[in-house]
Amino acid sequence: MKRGALIVFEGLDGCGKSTQLRRAAEALRSRGTEPVVTREPTGGRWGLKIRAMAQSGERVSPATELEWFFEDRREHMREIVGPALEEGRIVLSDRSYISTVAYQGARGLDVEKILSDSEAEFNRPDLILLFEISAKEGLARVNARGGKREPVFENLPFLERAAEIFGTLEVAGLARIDAARSEDEIAPDVLRLITICLDDRSDV
Ligand code: TYD
Repeated sequence: MKRGALIVFEGLDGCGKSTQLRRAAEALRSRGTEPVVTREPTGGRWGLKIRAMAQSGERVSPATELEWFFEDRREHMREIVGPALEEGRIVLSDRSYISTVAYQGARGLDVEKILSDSEAEFNRPDLILLFEISAKEGLARVNARGGKREPVFENLPFLERAAEIFGTLEVAGLARIDAARSEDEIAPDVLRLITICLDDRSDV
């Protein structure tokens, strides 16, 4: 049996990662593999607290924000991701700690420290798909799709700082994808990267 794999979809709000994750999950299903599809912030107590804060428009301190994302991730890793990987499943996660590096880094916290603390504590992704788009284009897409707004994170100066951090990150397993293209152009690239990653896994 091959070991499990953690594949993380990352990028700015409006980059199209959630759509691509859905498409990748469908492609895996059609090949006979049922992936575990999950996301952060989660629907758990910390995740709900984060979403309520994001939608309220009222920020908490950067340190508190960071703590909430770490707590949410601890619960997520313990209850969903860790057990799924133990079972040899393929986990597709909409965001993980690379988002904390970029977004809480954009709040002025230490980017290198967030990354090293995260790598020390959490499962390292086998593949990080980083969907690259400008903050302006991402925000325009968020505005166009309507739905619940999260003004705390979805504002241009903040997303521009996050984009800059995403743009300069150097992390093992990170693949950059030009997300300014159409959904249909991007999907085969995503699938190709996932296939290579899965084929490379060792047997257990
Ligand atoms: P998002 O993936 O946009 O969820 P939804 O589509 O349900 O709104 O995530 C919500 C926001 O949380 C997003 O603006 C990015 C932010 N975020 C962080 O600031 N740090 C993190 O560690 C994570 C996971 C998300």
